[in-house]
Amino acid sequence: MSIQQVPFITLNRFEPGFREQFLDGVASLFDKTQFVGGPIVGELEAQLATYTKSKFAIGCANGTDAIQIALRAVGVKKNDKVLVPDMTFWATFEAVVNVGANPVTVDVNRNACHWDLATFKKAVEDFKPTAAVMVHLYGWATPETLEIRKFAQEAGVVLIEDGAQCFGTEIHGQSVLGSALISTTSFYPAKVLGASGDAGAIFTSNEEYAKNCRTLINHGRTDHYSHGMVGWNSRIGAYESLFLSMSLKHIDARIESRRSAVTFYEESLQGLPFKPVRAAQGVHENGYCSVGMIDPQLRPALIENLKKANIGFGTIYPGAMSKQSGSAEYLAGKIDNGNAHYISQAVLNLPCFAFIKPEELQYVVDVVKKSF
Ligand SMILES: Cc1ncc(COP(=O)(O)O)c(C=O)c1O
Repeated sequence: MSIQQVPFITLNRFEPGFREQFLDGVASLFDKTQFVGGPIVGELEAQLATYTKSKFAIGCANGTDAIQIALRAVGVKKNDKVLVPDMTFWATFEAVVNVGANPVTVDVNRNACHWDLATFKKAVEDFKPTAAVMVHLYGWATPETLEIRKFAQEAGVVLIEDGAQCFGTEIHGQSVLGSALISTTSFYPAKVLGASGDAGAIFTSNEEYAKNCRTLINHGRTDHYSHGMVGWNSRIGAYESLFLSMSLKHIDARIESRRSAVTFYEESLQGLPFKPVRAAQGVHENGYCSVGMIDPQLRPALIENLKKANIGFGTIYPGAMSKQSGSAEYLAGKIDNGNAHYISQAVLNLPCFAFIKPEELQYVVDVVKKSF
C-alpha cells in the first residue's frame, strides 16, 4: 500500500521480541515488588556509565530534575546568576529558577543554533555568572564545545551540560555526556534513549558532585532518617530502568537508523529554499531530529502542504526563552542578537524516528520538493 501519512514521531517501532521481553521483566519485578530501587537501577546506572565513559551515572525522575540536581550538586545557590541559551526547551530555564538562581539568556549562533565562544565569553564578562547550562540542541554539539569548556574552567564558571537531546552524540570521538564536567539527560519516551515513562540521569566523573547528586535525589538522606541536605524525591522507577537497560542494548542501531534518515533528507533536499542543517564536522550526531531552515515568509506554505499530505512536523522551538511570558519576572539579563528569535521563525523539523521506513522518507521528500 502506498504511503499516505507519516507521523512526526512514533514510539511503536521496537525490535522483534522487545515487547515480550519487557513485559516478562515487568512481571518479574512485580512479583518481587521491586517498584523503587533494587538491582535493576544499579545495573542500568552501570550500563549508562560504561556507554558514556563517565565514572558516575545517577538515574533520576526526569531530565528537568537532572538539571536542578546538577545545579545544586555543583553548589549553585539562591540568587547566583546562571547563563542559559536563548534557544532551548523551557526546562533549562525553569531548572535555574527552581533552584532559586537567576537565569541570564545568552543568544545562540545563527548557523550552529548553539552558543559560540565569542558570545559566551561576552556573557561571562558582562554578567559574571556562577554557572552556565550549555544545551546540546538537536542532538548536535557546537564545534566550539571544547573551547567553551576550557574557557569556562579558566573563568571559574561551572559548566553544566544539558544533554537531554544528545544521548549517544560524540565530539571528536568522545561521548559529549561523558566528557563534560557534569551533564544531564532526559529519558522522556520521545528521546533517542527513551523510557517507558519519565526518567533522567546525571553524568560526571567528579566524585564530590556524584555524591551530592545521590544525596539530593533521595531527600538529602545520609541514612534512612538523617538528612544532610534538602533535596527532592527524584528516584528513577524500576520499570523505567528495566526498559532503559533493555533499550541501551539496541541504541547503536537505533541511532544509526535516525542518522540515515537525516542523511537522506540532506542528500535529497539539495538546492531548495528549505535547507536541511546537520551537525558540524567532528561531531557524530545522534539523529535526534531532522532540522531545516526556511525563510520565515515561506514556512507557513510548506507547513500547509505537509498538513495536507498528513505529514507530521515540528518547529523546535517556536519561541526564544527571553520571549516567553513566564520568563519576564525571572530574567536577570540577556544577550539578544535576534538569532534565537530568527531560528524560532525559520526552523522546521521533518519526521525522524528510529526505524522510519525508506518509503516514508521518500514520501516526505516528494511532498517537500513538490511544495516549491
Ligand atoms: C533540552 C532539554 N532540556 C530539558 C528537558 C527536560 O526533560 P524532561 O522532560 O525529562 O524533564 C528536555 C526534554 O523534554 C529537553 O529537550
